[in-house]
Amino acid sequence: RTLDDAGPLQGKRVLLRVDLNVPMEGGRVTDATRIERVVPTIREIADAGGRVILLAHFGRPKGKPDPKDSLKPILPTLSEKLARPVAFGEDCVGEAAAKAVAALNDGDVLLLENTRYHAGEEKNDAEFARALAENGDLYVNEAFSAAHRAHASTEGLARLLPAYAGRLMQAELDALTKGLESPARPVIAIVGGAKVSTKIDLLENLVAKVDMLVIGGGMANTFLHAQGKDVGKSLCEKDLAETAQRILTAAKEKNCTIILPADALVAREFKANAENETVTVDAVPSDAMILDVGASSIATIDGAIDEARTLVWNGPLGAFELTPFDTGTVAVARHAAARTKAGQLVSVAGGGDTVAALNHAGVGEDFSYVSTAGGAFLEWLEGKELPGVEALRAKG
Ligand code: 3PG
Repeated sequence: RTLDDAGPLQGKRVLLRVDLNVPMEGGRVTDATRIERVVPTIREIADAGGRVILLAHFGRPKGKPDPKDSLKPILPTLSEKLARPVAFGEDCVGEAAAKAVAALNDGDVLLLENTRYHAGEEKNDAEFARALAENGDLYVNEAFSAAHRAHASTEGLARLLPAYAGRLMQAELDALTKGLESPARPVIAIVGGAKVSTKIDLLENLVAKVDMLVIGGGMANTFLHAQGKDVGKSLCEKDLAETAQRILTAAKEKNCTIILPADALVAREFKANAENETVTVDAVPSDAMILDVGASSIATIDGAIDEARTLVWNGPLGAFELTPFDTGTVAVARHAAARTKAGQLVSVAGGGDTVAALNHAGVGEDFSYVSTAGGAFLEWLEGKELPGVEALRAKG
């Protein structure tokens, strides 16, 4: 159920769970994307006369108040993006919360302090969830990116109050469904990043669902090693060779074409502008490390994207934070963006590094959908049920 099913909001106290876990430096927000993406829902509820009570976590304070994890420093950015004042409550439950909520008029917006200041949040404690619920007439979950956590404010509350998906939650679920559940085929997935060990479940789930799977980044080295290639000094989890082999075999059984790099940009030092050369993956010098895919691999990946109608992307293809080892990620991202803009591809991307990589390539806006989620996006790619989403579904 979405906001459309919530009935008149005039005068209603709406507990709106958002994800304000944004990067901060020196007390200032350095990337406001997550804030910007929840602004339309806050406005929609406030403009309908609802009293918006924002619930959110920040950092991992382990159930105790810790000033470094306060949500207060986010207030100026939130208020600026909303272009309206936002009140602050020093606690999310108890007297301080009740007082702040009681002071609200219709259409006002209030942010309550970090839900993780209470141990009951992460324990999904029923009593804590009831204390949160006391301040609301209904609950709207807008935090897809925290939906992999079965916490009181992401899961428990949905059982206590009339519960609805917010607009961003709806958009995320819609995009993910188009990405993997009922996609236009063929589907290609690009999975990069440093380690196979963090993405075994994800790769196993994807080979069963997609038609083509590009494996890049450091994790590709483990697969190349499993195929008997010498990857020199490259990052490589040799103990996972068998796992890599198992994934390759499963892919074959499921008719999923695996695309591994055929050539690579190698260097002797892990630093920007390190002296580098392109070699085939059969000829990686023993003292060199693979830091990006090579030109021939880029052409192969671009060609595969041309055959696909849906792309799901998680993880960079190389050490994109160091030039020129961003070349592969940037080239492929731009190619996918161009196909998307031409209406030939539905492209869905997610995960912390991925979004940074797409922005670095200047195409963050050109994909069909870029998720705000990190861990939740990964768990969805793994095929897991997300408790925050399931709790909403259970409500019908
Ligand atoms: C995130 O930043 O991915 C979410 O806010 C979840 O945060 P967590 O990993 O601390 O639960």
